[in-house]
Amino acid sequence: MRVIAVVNQKGGSGKTTTAVHLAAVLAARKQRTLLVDLDPQGHCGLALGIAPARIEKGIEDAMQQGSGTALLDDGLFWEPAANLVLAPCTIRLAAFEAPGGPLAEAHDRDRRLSAILDRVAPRFEWCIIDCPPHIGLLVFNALRACDEALIPIETGYFALRAAERQVATIRAVADRLQRAIAIRVLPTLVRKDSPSSQHILTAIDRTFGNTVIPAMIREHDVLREAAGFGQAITEYAPTSEARRDFEWLAEWLITNPVEAQRSEGVSAGTDRTNPDAPLMAKLAAPRTNTRTVDPPLIEVETLSVNQAQSPTAENRLAELAERLRAAR
Ligand SMILES: Nc1ncnc2c1ncn2[C@@H]1O[C@H](COP(=O)(O)OP(=O)(O)OP(=O)(O)O)[C@@H](O)[C@H]1O
Ligand SMILES: [Mg+2]
Repeated sequence: MRVIAVVNQKGGSGKTTTAVHLAAVLAARKQRTLLVDLDPQGHCGLALGIAPARIEKGIEDAMQQGSGTALLDDGLFWEPAANLVLAPCTIRLAAFEAPGGPLAEAHDRDRRLSAILDRVAPRFEWCIIDCPPHIGLLVFNALRACDEALIPIETGYFALRAAERQVATIRAVADRLQRAIAIRVLPTLVRKDSPSSQHILTAIDRTFGNTVIPAMIREHDVLREAAGFGQAITEYAPTSEARRDFEWLAEWLITNPVEAQRSEGVSAGTDRTNPDAPLMAKLAAPRTNTRTVDPPLIEVETLSVNQAQSPTAENRLAELAERLRAAR
């Protein structure tokens, strides 16, 4: 199983969008893919049409119980599409990083995810981890568990300077965790017709050299719509340009296996001591640089509960859905 952490401490850089649709495209290629939602915001579940209220058990329960948990066989996994399995989270995941959280005293607190993935590895060919927009225990768990870190970099104004810092931080954390992780930079939210976006793209190439994947995710309204409808791009717009971008990314990853790029280091789950306590304390800073995402249209699902009382709401929702489909 090849494990990719989609990570960037910058909020709204396209992590969840990348994680969800990359996983969906891999699954559509008949590759058994596990998507792990390691962000307490729980956006992966929403993006795949699973309302938070339906999720009883989350990855936090499995991490708390440890690798022996029965949850892995019963109650944790959802299968929103063929070959696509989601390990969702609930808001309880946020408590993990709080002072005195459930794993605060556990010596292996940054290896819990890695141990779980070791156990389920025979079932999957890929595991994609969606990380939260800050560095803390959850990101340590992801970087401990992964073979490569996929860093989506937004090609907007001011993005480049921030990007250098973001990539340097992730590299530093990976180094300190003694993990030889392949770092891959992925330009996202690229605006085809925008000179500034193109300019930043060139600058990203110049700055990050061959860590930049020769693929990019352009800005596509259909990706926002798909999130609103709670569907992966493979389902919502299977013939779209947006899907093509993710197919290109998947193709590149498949043809560039990580082993070839790994040089040294400790593989997931093999080290037994915890040399990272000082680093974790230092880096577990309060959340910075986060921003709220656009209000998700997934509210549609919440609203539909009230449809019986309000026929007007139903009409408006149908109209909205029609307008969005037409706009594709
Ligand atoms: N390529 C794209 N085209 C159009 N919209 C996009 C694209 N990528 C992301 N978005 C939109 O931008 C917003 C932020 O994206 P996303 O949630 O994937 O970022 P994130 O890095 O996961 O955010 P957070 O840090 O809050 O977890 C969302 O509304 C999403 O629908
Ligand atoms: Mg996200």
